[in-house]
Amino acid sequence: MGGDVPAARARPRRRAHRARRVRAPARPQACDEEDTMTSELSPRLRRVVDALPLEPGMRVLEIGGAPGAAAREVAARVGPQGHVLVLDRSDTGIRRARANCREEIDAGRLSTMCASVEDFELEPGTPLFDLAFACRVGALDGRHPQLYAPALANIRSALVPDGRLYVDTGSPLTAIQLD
Ligand SMILES: C[S@@+](CC[C@H](N)C(=O)[O-])C[C@H]1O[C@@H](n2cnc3c(N)ncnc32)[C@H](O)[C@@H]1O
Repeated sequence: MGGDVPAARARPRRRAHRARRVRAPARPQACDEEDTMTSELSPRLRRVVDALPLEPGMRVLEIGGAPGAAAREVAARVGPQGHVLVLDRSDTGIRRARANCREEIDAGRLSTMCASVEDFELEPGTPLFDLAFACRVGALDGRHPQLYAPALANIRSALVPDGRLYVDTGSPLTAIQLD
């Protein structure tokens, strides 16, 4: 009696299963609460920061750096003579980064810019950066291939001649050839 599953009930169950499988690939692109809304450094971002060849006094550009968790850690590692610029196209993200990094901003060790990496240029007179990095930014990780060339050109212009760019497409980072 209890073992028979009527056909009319079995079909919706299969549909629900298929729908879950179709939605799954979109997940890694989303800004999830734990990683992106908090100012705490997640284990993922710590691995990224640990892999960057940071030195005291470096100037570092973080692309898509809202809400500032990695940038704060980088600012601590490059020290008082260094600087971090958080570039992000989201107004809300930049507001959060400014709130989360208030101390570093007030000390002149971190600044923010609200712009897309494929459109930005540094304010005239801004010293160039030694290193740039990006985590989960579609313009640089292959999700938006049409944005890759303009983004790379802008990053190259913001870096010193031997400046380096790292993107989180490796384990954890890939060094991108800029020549
Ligand atoms: C998935 S979240 C990742 C945030 C952080 N980098 C991390 O790994 O936790 C992507 C961030 O990059 C920003 N972003 C996406 N595309 C961008 C672009 N083309 N130019 C600048 N910022 C971008 C978004 O506004 C968002 O803050």
